[in-house]
Amino acid sequence: MKTTAAANPSLRDRVVRRFVDEFGDGPVRVFFAPGRVNLVGAHLDYNGGDVLPLAVDRGIYVGARLRPDRRIRLRSLNDPLAVETAAEAVGERADPEHGWAAYALGVWREFAVTAGRRAGVDLCYGGDLPMASGLASSAAIGVATAFALDALHGIGLEPVEIAEIAHRAETGYVGLQCGIMDQYASALGRSGHVVLLHCFTKEWEHVPVDPDAFEILVMDTRRPRRLAASRFNERVRECARAHRLLREHVRDLPCLAAYSEEDLEAGAPFLDAVAFRRARHVVTEMRRIARGVAGLRAGNIAALGRALDESHRSAREDYEVSCEELDEITGAARRLDPVFGARLTGAGFGGCAIALVQPGRSPAVEAYVHSRFVERFGVEPGFEVLHPGGGPREVDSS
Ligand code: GLA
Repeated sequence: MKTTAAANPSLRDRVVRRFVDEFGDGPVRVFFAPGRVNLVGAHLDYNGGDVLPLAVDRGIYVGARLRPDRRIRLRSLNDPLAVETAAEAVGERADPEHGWAAYALGVWREFAVTAGRRAGVDLCYGGDLPMASGLASSAAIGVATAFALDALHGIGLEPVEIAEIAHRAETGYVGLQCGIMDQYASALGRSGHVVLLHCFTKEWEHVPVDPDAFEILVMDTRRPRRLAASRFNERVRECARAHRLLREHVRDLPCLAAYSEEDLEAGAPFLDAVAFRRARHVVTEMRRIARGVAGLRAGNIAALGRALDESHRSAREDYEVSCEELDEITGAARRLDPVFGARLTGAGFGGCAIALVQPGRSPAVEAYVHSRFVERFGVEPGFEVLHPGGGPREVDSS
């Protein structure tokens, strides 16, 4: 397998040093999988809609080595929790005590089911993107693990198979009813491109991004996403209810994202207020993503930016996944001329937002947003300019 230089060589080296300290000398291979930002298409993936994520140049590194026995040992530079278990003890559901390591153990299990390989393994992780903040760090752990196991066993799975393994681990083993976006975005990442993913058919295309058109400023509110998993699963259930009612009373379409605004109007008398608002977000978000994609293809970043702004408003009012901090940070950014648009990213409920900014203008945006945010909340937000990056790969030290 071809290896490439790590985008973050010092992190790659720290992963190797910790690996050797924990697990002893010997050959260790290092793999990387990217996180993602989703430009537009909030909460559409599990509703069968379209999403527009791009893999970024930050993500998760994992040092990996197969073991001659059936033990699995996991370490992380980002979390003190160390996990060791016998392969036989990895059941169908995550053990809550395994914390972050559940994403990796779930992948080990799904990989064993898919590829029939059950060897023990030592794994040590390190990430350079904000964790659990809406940049798909858990999907990157999953994709990096599946990619590593595939390479160590020399099987040669397709990127989509890697994504599916990581997705099944998260929905089945970990128990978050997420859609496919994050795992597909990470596994299909291609430098200089976004992925336009049609989640119902699982078809996708890579759409080129002009690197001089905009930069992506990630703004971290530092607000932990409390109860995000249970509130996320609640949204999934609410959308399923809206879909069921629309099928019963309007017409039978295969997913919520397939309904039109006219359908929704016709269904309004039969939907409770919550189901109606959730459905309205999904249906109107499909319009916004179409406009966003058209803007991106035409180089009309202002139109893409407007789609982001409107997506945030709908996520706040109809989907109710925003919070004061996300509203403030995106609102402050939006006030500035060099900002095309801003929205929360990932599931919401806290964590990060993104702003599309004219190239080179992020420092000025950051200075203004920072002072507004500190004034209101007394908390220092984090800022990073992220660039489109490639998909999973093996990395060497050079
Ligand atoms: C999380 C989930 C994704 C997607 C987004 C919201 O990142 O893992 O599947 O639903 O939230 O768009």
